[in-house]
Amino acid sequence: MSSIAFNIAKSNFSKRSLYTLAGLTTLAGVISYNNSNTNNKNNNGGPNKFSNSSKVLASAATLNVALNDDKHDLKDYQQVYNDIAQKIREYDEYDEAIGFGPALVRLAWHLSGTFVGPKGCPHFSGGSYGGTIRLPKEAKDPANNALENARWLLDPIKSKYSWISYGDLYTLSGVTAIQELGGPKIKWRPGRKDLGEEYASNSVLPDASRDADYVRGLFVRRMGFTDQETVALIGAHALGSCHIQAPILPGAKESTGPGSGYTGRWTASPNFFTNEFFRLLLEDKWTQKKWSGPVQYQNSDDSLMMLPADLALVEDPAFKKFVQEYAKDQDKYFKDFAAAFQKLLELGIDFKGKREFEFKTLDEQDI
Ligand code: HEM
Repeated sequence: MSSIAFNIAKSNFSKRSLYTLAGLTTLAGVISYNNSNTNNKNNNGGPNKFSNSSKVLASAATLNVALNDDKHDLKDYQQVYNDIAQKIREYDEYDEAIGFGPALVRLAWHLSGTFVGPKGCPHFSGGSYGGTIRLPKEAKDPANNALENARWLLDPIKSKYSWISYGDLYTLSGVTAIQELGGPKIKWRPGRKDLGEEYASNSVLPDASRDADYVRGLFVRRMGFTDQETVALIGAHALGSCHIQAPILPGAKESTGPGSGYTGRWTASPNFFTNEFFRLLLEDKWTQKKWSGPVQYQNSDDSLMMLPADLALVEDPAFKKFVQEYAKDQDKYFKDFAAAFQKLLELGIDFKGKREFEFKTLDEQDI
């Protein structure tokens, strides 16, 4: 798949929508310029709507402009960070003692990775702005199986800090998890605004059974990352595991539902953020697992796993170059991951001129 958006464009563009698009493109420059220069208390730049069904690319062609929130500062967001971090600590036995950290990283990524906005096309959909992964249309996307558990952890925090939007809370939870699990500091900006179901996405998240061309189509052509950023981001698979069934929530008796159908961990330390994923990709021997489930790969002693889309990173020479670099140099990996993860969380949002926060870990605060 080269790009979902391009496919839609090919099949659904009537001449009229093309002309409308041309008009909006011109208008877009003006609107986005104006939005980024106003104190946008009551505007959000008109969230972009990308309707698959109506075959119309609707609304103005601008980025969603981050809102100003003069009432809350670093101290308030650090408090939210701390509460999320405490929850990760409290439930450290969850999911065979991996804890909730990896699930929160996946939640932030699946909220943001719905972005569809090929280079040069002013129209886009998805991204983290509207916090739409909480809504049935997006929550029920099979790619989001098991993420109800991550949202379960965050619900009480949303009730306590009702002023924070879901998009801000979910992206902040990804940042919190990366930092608390020993990863790099990630700069984060608030200003997302809850949007309704008409802005929710479905069926745009990656299919793990695919190859390097597909991965590049999705990350580079559709979301606008470089090869290097793509490799850095997928290195987050150092964390967590694959699930046939969603892990059982604390206090519950049964799983909340199906997982991805894959099974196993990528690394032996799934609750520490490291460059292990890259080292293992290069140094272990990966063979196809013999089982009745989907095609996946196992290492020499069958203790760890890789998805076909993970192995694509060493099958493709341009991707492999970065795998080799990151396997050798964890500092470089951390630096590149931090930048790419911030970019992921901000896809489709205009944060121009907005405050940028960096949080202390609980350890740094002696909590
Ligand atoms: C080609 C791209 C990708 C594919 C095909 C993919 C696929 C998957 C699959 C199938 C799972 C298992 C889900 C489950 O069974 O619970 C998973 C888990 C995970 N993914 Fe990805 N992923 C991709 C990219 C990313 C990126 C860019 C990030 C973060 C920046 C990420 C972070 C994670 C994490 C942390 C988990 C573990 C979740 C847990 O343990 O609950 N993935 N991914």
